[in-house]
Amino acid sequence: MKRIAVFASGTGSNARRLMEHFHHSGKARIVLLVCNKAGAPVLQTAKDFGIETLLLSRESFYESDVVIKTLQEKSIDLIVLAGFLWLLPADLVKAFPQRIVNIHPALLPKFGGKGMYGMHVHKAVVAAGEKESGITIHFVDEHYDEGEHIAQFRCPVLPGDTPETLAKRVQELEHAHFAETVESILTR
Ligand code: GRF
Repeated sequence: MKRIAVFASGTGSNARRLMEHFHHSGKARIVLLVCNKAGAPVLQTAKDFGIETLLLSRESFYESDVVIKTLQEKSIDLIVLAGFLWLLPADLVKAFPQRIVNIHPALLPKFGGKGMYGMHVHKAVVAAGEKESGITIHFVDEHYDEGEHIAQFRCPVLPGDTPETLAKRVQELEHAHFAETVESILTR
């Protein structure tokens, strides 16, 4: 059975969906949750699912090999970034070629790159007068939001949308499609 590590820093709603999905589908196992924020709610979610957690400092992430070592020890097949904001060090990307997946809350290549995360993305989409937005699920390389696309899902930007109302619609897309897309690439 394929073994997944999920990286998350925030509230972890997507991480929770992933945990629920694979708990029920049994098609893969999430065996590790990597987090860079002490006290993040996602750490408790992982514990509730009996998933081991690794809490990282910036120093341990960028200046030691603790992450790569842990991933290798745990025989991780796929890394899934679900709201993990730090740029991955090049040696980590090299150790897992085409085996790291990210979800971005817009239709890349638009509205991506450094600083384009969370509400910043939805503010920019509304300000640009876009007629549609959505999500991009993609492989990760050494640059923010630039790896090969795996799937995109779209939703309209409606007249009168605020960044908040758009964020909610985009999040629904994330929750509806992320886990199944991850599952589909496990068999690639
Ligand atoms: C999501 O919008 C995802 O696209 C982005 O970070 C956000 C994480 O949200 N990469 P959550 O913590 O899963 O609720």
